[in-house]
Amino acid sequence: MIAERVQALALGGPNKLPAQFIRPVHERPENTVAVDGVTVPVISLSQPHDVVVKEVAEACQEWGFFLITDHGISPSLIQRLKEVGQEFFELPQGEKEAYSNDAASGKFEGYGTKMTKNLEESWSGLTITFISWLLLLRLTTMYGPKIHLLTADLPPLFCTCRSYPSADGRQQLVFRVSPSCMDKDSSELRGRGTLMANTGWLKRLGNSAPLILLVKGDLETWSSAFFMASFPEPLLDGLSCFRTRRGSLSGVTEEYSKEILRITENLLQLLSEGLGLEGKVLKSCLGDEELKLEMKINMYPPCPQPELALGVEPHTDMSALTILVPNDVPGLQVWKDGNWVAVNLLENALFVHVGDQIEVLSNGKYKSVLHRSLVNKECTRMSWAVFIAPPHEANIGPLSELVNDQNQAKYSTKTYAEYRHRKFSKLPQ
Ligand code: SIN
Ligand code: FE2
Repeated sequence: MIAERVQALALGGPNKLPAQFIRPVHERPENTVAVDGVTVPVISLSQPHDVVVKEVAEACQEWGFFLITDHGISPSLIQRLKEVGQEFFELPQGEKEAYSNDAASGKFEGYGTKMTKNLEESWSGLTITFISWLLLLRLTTMYGPKIHLLTADLPPLFCTCRSYPSADGRQQLVFRVSPSCMDKDSSELRGRGTLMANTGWLKRLGNSAPLILLVKGDLETWSSAFFMASFPEPLLDGLSCFRTRRGSLSGVTEEYSKEILRITENLLQLLSEGLGLEGKVLKSCLGDEELKLEMKINMYPPCPQPELALGVEPHTDMSALTILVPNDVPGLQVWKDGNWVAVNLLENALFVHVGDQIEVLSNGKYKSVLHRSLVNKECTRMSWAVFIAPPHEANIGPLSELVNDQNQAKYSTKTYAEYRHRKFSKLPQ
């Protein structure tokens, strides 16, 4: 399995965690055990409307996190979503090898290839392997007429795959649809392809790390978005191979994303009403039809010493909301009243995280939940998260309806792009 190969590469041995993954003493799960007897809110959406509004508002105020049931997504769709994600991470070796010589994908710095065609030409002609793969997924069609700029064949915009030796120890795939990036012309995109070769942009973490990553300050543009520097071979093979499965993957993610959009609209209405406002207020602040959805599939390989490591270090999401389904391996914990609380699995429930943008809009009435995830000694943990965020140019600040002499604005108003930039650069907001 890919996980094993990546893990073997990263860990250099099955029993001991390399130093770079050992968390500081005060962060280690062995020293920060989840509190007993506390459980996160579980809310059935089939209750009467006013009950749901009340429960959702309470959960957002007290936790910034809750599970929803009776949300209308069929268990079989969730199951199919999980299957296509798992397929990616579990491609058989033979199949990967068969695809690794795919001439169309070529090589780029040993792993990727150059982007040779422009936006007006066939997207499948693009030859940076991971981009090609993403393009072929055609996730953008998931929004149908709701997002005006998309034509049938336009692709999701980027993907990151973090291999195991990223600082937080997970692999992930991100599919993203971002209308604003579609405006960029092809020469810019080619330029960005070239940027990937520029090692000034890339950062390798540790000698044994087969990959990584990303980030430059200005997150408004493609070039500064997350990039994968170089793929570890197993993932590279997997990506090539996965292009051939695009039919099933794009079908499932399309269907799932439509459902998530429906649930998001419902949640934003409930959250607005919970603030004493009209149902449409939050969605309209978040860009209405420009609302962006980004899907990220996380994969956390088994870890030899899970008590010393974290899958994801404590953080809040910068999105407005994040809606996630995990596999059957627990690991997510949320921070509540000075303790970590383990989130128990509940089949087919969706995990809803309030993100920073909702905290800001609500002027702190709703909390952006601090959360982290643990890893498991024997089992691979996976999670499928959809981040729901405003367009980059949206101005997000406390809603004027919630600010008055008694309740001063607790946050400054800024564009989402600026917020992201500051968060990634660890600057004060
Ligand atoms: C994350 O917060 O980034 C991932 C959480 C999870 O895997 O459950
Ligand atoms: Fe998160």
